[in-house]
Formats: sequence, C-alpha cells, structure tokens
Amino acid sequence: MSCFLHNIMNIFATLPSYQTKLKQNGYMEKKENIRLYGAGGHSQIIYSVLKRNGVMISEIYDDDPSNCHWGYKDVLVKTRSTAGNLLNSKDPFIIAIGDNFYRKRIARFLKSKYAKVIHESAIIDESVSIGNGTVIYAGSIVQPNTTIGEHVIINTSASIDHDNTIEDFAHLSPNATLCGSVYIGEGTHVGAGAVIIPETKIGKWCIIGAGSIITKDVPDFSTVVGNPGRIIKTNNLEVYNRKCG
Ligand SMILES: CC(C)(COP(=O)(O)OP(=O)(O)OC[C@H]1O[C@@H](n2cnc3c(N)ncnc32)[C@H](O)[C@@H]1OP(=O)(O)O)[C@@H](O)C(=O)NCCC(=O)NCCS
Repeated sequence: MSCFLHNIMNIFATLPSYQTKLKQNGYMEKKENIRLYGAGGHSQIIYSVLKRNGVMISEIYDDDPSNCHWGYKDVLVKTRSTAGNLLNSKDPFIIAIGDNFYRKRIARFLKSKYAKVIHESAIIDESVSIGNGTVIYAGSIVQPNTTIGEHVIINTSASIDHDNTIEDFAHLSPNATLCGSVYIGEGTHVGAGAVIIPETKIGKWCIIGAGSIITKDVPDFSTVVGNPGRIIKTNNLEVYNRKCG
C-alpha cells in the first residue's frame, strides 16, 4: 500500500483512540495549573492553547518582566531572582521561549516537573512518543512511530510524517514539513514552510531557512537556505557554549 494511502487510513482509524489516549495522558481536560517561564510572544500562543483546555496559569516568570509581550492580568510576571521558590510548587512548568539556545539554558537550572501542551486540533498517532516540556500547536499532524524529544516546539500546521526523530530543544516552524524517516538533531530550527525530504539527517543546532528544500544530510551547526538547500554559515561550538552555557 502506498505511504500516502496508509497515512490517510491511519488518520481515520485512530481518531477515536487518539482522543482517549490524550485524555489518559492528561494532555486534555487536565485542570492542574501550569507555570510559564517566558512572557514574550511565544508564551501568548501557549496561553491560548491552555485556555482552550481549561488549564490555568498560576505563575509567569521572565528574566525581564518589562519586556512582557502580553497582559495576563491576574498573574504577576516574576523575575528569576525569585528562583528560590520555583522548585517548591507542585505545578509543572513550560519554558515558553521560542529561542532554542535560551530554552536549553533555562532548562539547565530549572529542575522542575514539565508539562506537555497540545492543541486539541493537532492530530497525533497514538504510537508517537512526546517528551516533557514539548508544545504542539494548532493543526499539526504527527504520523506513526515518530519520536519527539523534550522542550520541542511543533509550531502551527507543521506536518511530520512517519518514523521521524526530533531531538530535544528543536523547533519546527509553521508549515514545516518532515517527510518520512527524517532525523532532526538537538536544538535545530526548521524555518517556516521548509521541507525535508525522506531519510535525511539534519545535525544538531542547525538553522534551516524559511521555504528551503533540504535534499541531503546537513552537518551539525550549519545554516542552510534555498532549493536545493546550500550551507551559507557554520556556527562553532563556542557560539553554542556562549548561548547555552
Ligand atoms: C536562514 C536565516 C536564519 C538566515 O538569516 P541570516 O543568517 O541573518 O542570513 P542573511 O539574512 O544575512 O542572508 C544570507 C543570504 O541567504 C539568503 N537567504 C536568507 N534566508 C533565506 C531563505 N529562507 N531562503 C533563501 N535564501 C535565503 C539571503 O538572501 C542572503 O543571500 P545573499 O548573500 O545572496 O544576499 C533566515 O533568513 C531564515 O530563513 N530564518 C527562518 C525564519 C523563520 O522561519 N521563522 C519562523 C519563526 S516561528
């Protein structure tokens, strides 16, 4: 059977059990409070998803509260200087920061429980494994036997086909497409509308430009743009250590 037909059948076959699975795993209808670290643009989207699921935000932290992009009037935005209290609360965190390096940096000191946030319109096969701290936004589709690591962002309408692996702290931007058996390394950012063809390996801490088509494996720390994708920059370990350290 063609891969395409298999996927179509799979979507229809698994919808009811998918809903059950989400409930069992506490992705939906879970009323416990969540804390956010990050009060910028990205946290607004997470708040929107949580609101739909009836989940309250108990606290918001940001290193620079004056930079807050939005007003959630009932919650005071606190700074990291109150970190002494962070670990005492039972409410899990989401690191609501779009920058992959910075998300990793925060995760290093914030040894907390982490929630998973999944928009109700996302379609996720029940075989998919999803790490803690990961967020999946509206309209995304994740097909069978895909593994998604911790603190990953699957942005609006991203399409992830079968047997993909997405490592921790990666970010798939809106409308990014991973065909089957693609590997995305730790911290890699796949730009909006980029397409990665089947069985391609993208290294760690790469940037794939918006709209790019990636037809070959990409080494660690590369920035790749265009169709077919070409490497325009290579970051080094020093940059990684400065941003994540
Ligand atoms: C890839 C990217 C990071 C490059 O940014 P940069 O390092 O600042 O590079 P520059 O803007 O200096 O561009 C360098 C060259 O690459 C080209 N280029 C940049 N982005 C490109 C893209 N997405 N596709 C094709 N070419 C691109 C530029 O035109 C320029 O070409 P030139 O040297 O011939 O003039 C950025 O352009 C990009 O696409 N970011 C992804 C944005 C995104 O999807 N965000 C989603 C948020 S949710």
